[in-house]
Amino acid sequence: MTQARNPARKLFVRSYGCQMNAYDAQRMADALAPEGFVETATPDGADLIILNTCHIREKAADKVYSELGRMRQLKEQAAGEGRRVMLAVAGCVAQAEGEEIVRRNGAVDLVFGPQSYHRLPAMLARARHGTVVDTEFPPEDKFDHLPAPAREATRRRGVSAFLTVQEGCDKFCTFCVVPYTRGAEVSRPVAKIVADAERLADAGVRELTLIGQNVNAWHGKDERGRDATLAHLLTRLADVPGIARLRYTTSHPLDMDDALIEAHRDLPALMPQLHLPVQSGSDRILAAMNRRHTRADYLAAIEKLRRARPDIAFSSDFIVGFPGETEADFKATFALVAEVGYASAYSFKYSPRPGTPAAAMEQIPEAQKDERLQRLQYEIDRQLDRFNAGCLGATLPVLFEKPGRRSGQMVGKSPYLQAVHVMGPASLIGQIQPVRITRLGSFTLDGTLETVPAAAAPRAPAIAGA
Ligand code: 5AD
Ligand code: SF4
Repeated sequence: MTQARNPARKLFVRSYGCQMNAYDAQRMADALAPEGFVETATPDGADLIILNTCHIREKAADKVYSELGRMRQLKEQAAGEGRRVMLAVAGCVAQAEGEEIVRRNGAVDLVFGPQSYHRLPAMLARARHGTVVDTEFPPEDKFDHLPAPAREATRRRGVSAFLTVQEGCDKFCTFCVVPYTRGAEVSRPVAKIVADAERLADAGVRELTLIGQNVNAWHGKDERGRDATLAHLLTRLADVPGIARLRYTTSHPLDMDDALIEAHRDLPALMPQLHLPVQSGSDRILAAMNRRHTRADYLAAIEKLRRARPDIAFSSDFIVGFPGETEADFKATFALVAEVGYASAYSFKYSPRPGTPAAAMEQIPEAQKDERLQRLQYEIDRQLDRFNAGCLGATLPVLFEKPGRRSGQMVGKSPYLQAVHVMGPASLIGQIQPVRITRLGSFTLDGTLETVPAAAAPRAPAIAGA
């Protein structure tokens, strides 16, 4: 076996950006495990360092080059000790910049895009004899060529797991690089997704978050060969034994169809929390962004979802300072935030991305962007505080994930993705228990268990001590 030929080698992956990257990092580790690579938490002493990069905003991309400078030093230090460290750049900056990365930092051995990480062992072997740059969109499906993670690896990763169901995007919002870096929209087939879900559940996973750049555009065929959408997939996954919670992210308002809204009404496993980015509250800016929906369309979707699932909470993404944004446009965004009332939201200053249509439009001054961002963030923070305060005294079902920092403390997640701390036994891991919220921390909630938990959940992984 390869394992015998290669004694354990250390792999360090640093991921930036979205959940898709966090998931890809795990799959890279799975692809390299048969080669004898074992993951390590720090770059010091690693034999292979992979920076899994994000290109969504300028700042995210800049970080890569400064981090590469540091990694180069590590590599040179190791070389001085007679040890060869391989340095790789993966993800969306790799896809977008390719050769340019090697030109700017000669210590890089390997550059590969998000579509080719199943080829990692072969690329790595080639990179030992000279730099490799692979930013092709290969014809084969990388998921068909990736080894499934070992059961132990899944158990170590905990009771909540991501599962890619869809990748890429055909929407071409004028500010966004995703259609260029992640390519065209592709949905994975139901049977493969269900098989993955069953494998994860078998290793103790209780919560699945279906991920995709445009996850609610997922489409496929049901068991009888009929056209199916995300609502069907969620209904099918809710039946997988052991899976108690389902989530999906990230969605586009245009693909929020009636069947999906009804799934929020009909599937208790589907958590009452939805990330539904709107980007702007101004119709003029939405049109310039090529979002293909209006403010009214978005508000109508929110309204329908609230009717279907009255306890649903929303989060969103906002861009301020898009080219041409006036004070009136910004005020419309601000008013929309106030009207919806979010549980949380992310706001970003518009960042021109090379090759995207908005980068060529007339830009607005940086100081104006800063000022608007501050105003919007203030309102968003206020809403977050209000939402958390509303949970005080309530009883929420909490899925326990891991021990807390304090002795005897356990941490879990509420349906609204809030971290909740209680004092309780390690056997809570993998269980969903009602918790009465007694105190608000800055980013977390404290509570007390309402019931005395059973000794162990039927499918809970034995994480204690792992
Ligand atoms: N500038 C600023 N924010 C952006 N986003 C995407 N592209 C840009 C950009 N060029 C934000 C959007 C998206 C989130 C993932 O990142 O709000 O929903
Ligand atoms: Fe980017 Fe999302 Fe628009 Fe696709 S739908 S182009 S991923 S912002």
